[in-house]
Amino acid sequence: MAEPKENPLMEKIVSLCKRRGFIYQSSEIYGGINGFWDYGPLGAELKRNVKELWWNTMTRQRDDVVGLEATIIMSPEIWKASGHVDTFADMMVECPLTNKRFRADQVEPQSGTALFFESALEVSAALKNIKETLAIAAESGRQENIVASWPNIHADEAKAKSLIEKSGLSNHDIEEIEDRYRRTYPEHDSRSRGNFSRSFAVLIKSGENSGSAYKRAEEFYKKQGLLGVLFLAPARTVEVINSREFNPENGVKLTEPRPFNLMFKTYVGPVESEDNVAYLRPETAQAIFAQFKNVLDSSRVKVPFGIAQIGKAFRNEVTPRNFTFRSREFEQMELEFFIKPDEAVEAISGSVVSVSQLSTLNPQPTWGWEAWHKYWVEERIKFYEGIGLPRTTLVEYWQKPEELAHYARATVDILFRFPFSKRDEKGELMGEELEGIAARSDFDLSQHERFSGKPMGVFDDELRAAWAKLDEAKKAELSKRYFEARLKYLTKTGVEQAKAEKEAKEDAEGLAKGQYIPHVIEPSAGVDRLILALICNAYYEDQMPDEKGKMETRVVMKFHPRVAPIKVGVLPLLKNKPPLVEKALAVRDLLRPHMNVFYDDAGAIGRRYRRQDEAGTPFCVTIDFDTLGEKGPELQDTVTLRYRDDGKQDRVKISDLLPLLLEKIR
Ligand code: GAP
Repeated sequence: MAEPKENPLMEKIVSLCKRRGFIYQSSEIYGGINGFWDYGPLGAELKRNVKELWWNTMTRQRDDVVGLEATIIMSPEIWKASGHVDTFADMMVECPLTNKRFRADQVEPQSGTALFFESALEVSAALKNIKETLAIAAESGRQENIVASWPNIHADEAKAKSLIEKSGLSNHDIEEIEDRYRRTYPEHDSRSRGNFSRSFAVLIKSGENSGSAYKRAEEFYKKQGLLGVLFLAPARTVEVINSREFNPENGVKLTEPRPFNLMFKTYVGPVESEDNVAYLRPETAQAIFAQFKNVLDSSRVKVPFGIAQIGKAFRNEVTPRNFTFRSREFEQMELEFFIKPDEAVEAISGSVVSVSQLSTLNPQPTWGWEAWHKYWVEERIKFYEGIGLPRTTLVEYWQKPEELAHYARATVDILFRFPFSKRDEKGELMGEELEGIAARSDFDLSQHERFSGKPMGVFDDELRAAWAKLDEAKKAELSKRYFEARLKYLTKTGVEQAKAEKEAKEDAEGLAKGQYIPHVIEPSAGVDRLILALICNAYYEDQMPDEKGKMETRVVMKFHPRVAPIKVGVLPLLKNKPPLVEKALAVRDLLRPHMNVFYDDAGAIGRRYRRQDEAGTPFCVTIDFDTLGEKGPELQDTVTLRYRDDGKQDRVKISDLLPLLLEKIR
């Protein structure tokens, strides 16, 4: 089912994001810049919380992952080794009339009748032959007046054209004249007579008038430099069903798809020459591979282990769309988790556990790439659940073999059911990618080893010791498998057969001595997409009584307390009662070192609650006259704790407030 053009829910979400300071269009005062977005005060807090939760979960709470923060601009050699210079491209199509570009796979399918034009007769060229044309017209006895004016009109093409028009020569007349002309002057080919050949096609939807198609064709031929189009007729018409070949905005047939490299180019230093070209990184991952050896040598890590990084990435997307979903500048949170090749695991542990036999997802020495891959898929889904995206909002999509990159053994995309996602036949949102978890074999480190000439392998004591104890048949079997895997990699990346065989043999000999290039599992997530998913998931409209008990619609952002930009609103009942204000400020200062607190004393309390509901603040603390002990000593130093989602209120001692809130937001 096609994506609906207008999405009222998304419109509300985009408008709330601007109104409440989550997300603004970049450079808005200058009309904006397509594909770039800024985060306002609430958005910046939300983003920080998400990144910190990811960082804590992926690095600090684990013994086997360390962090990295690399530069955005790196040696361009990195992008040659990774394949980005040659292949990081989207297939792009262009409208020959408006020059607007589209990603070929994202053009909305169209149906109707397509008019295919092959050429147009140019006015200026036709008028070069006007003498003959008019002579023939005169001969036919029908156009005496034009012939009589010939000496004057010869000098003025526009006038000639207008005279022809005025004279009432129909297309049919011109065709006839053309025909006689062709017979009279057979030596003139069609081009010399101004028959300009270039294919152009327009789709007319059923019920649409064909006049617009002729108009577009005329515009197109004029755009090619023709002064005017004298004669235009489609060479053929074709019925078209659900085709992505036509511009949905004007029906014009798009150009053939061609690759468009998505990397932003720049120059390092003052000279803008090809030698100084550099790229803004299109992913954070490559820095991790490039620094793999340094991290290994400078920290106490041993395979299996991971390196994590959060940072900006840039892609010159052909069609940025769906709010921040596809941006040109965005942030990624990537982990490269390095593991032993299966042959090494088998040599050490006797076997590699198959995923169907996995009883627990606690890492084991018998785990090969499949088990590690499954483990990371589960870990990542748990992470999303832990920050408030229920499993029902997520889809675990296993890429089909034909969709996999040539080096990938398996890739799972975690999709979120965004309001703008396409729907399946049952009407269910199908979801769009939040994160990809790829088993990338040893491709990346191998590429950097080949391109940099620096060894990327590790030495594994345990493997060397285990290998020595294997029987000869097992050694031969594992060596053969490793040799074949390395040979496949080398030949696929263009190494000539004899050289590849020699290198693969050396690699297999290296394995027997405890050496290998680690394989990698890569969970790669986009911060901005996650923020958008959290915002879409949090958006609710419900009914709540106002201060007079009358039901009203409220907009509430039900963020999980862990990610909520503001954790608690502190509200003195009245701002002009100093004892209330004093107490409220004391509560604010008590909580502030531990969480993001918003102090608000402006307006009626109900309105203040609504403001916090829209900001997604999970708790509000109200300081009232009971807090001051005015209704009796038992309520003194207690506050009202109000819960955002259901509006329920509890009476809580100020001394219990901090531990209670900390428990809820952690
Ligand atoms: N290192 C692997 C890699 O970069 P990817 O699937 O191209 O893989 C990973 O990107 C994640 O980065 C995506 O799942 C998505 O969340 C995010 N991402 C990619 N392109 C994006 C864009 N144009 N705008 C926003 N996020 C994007």
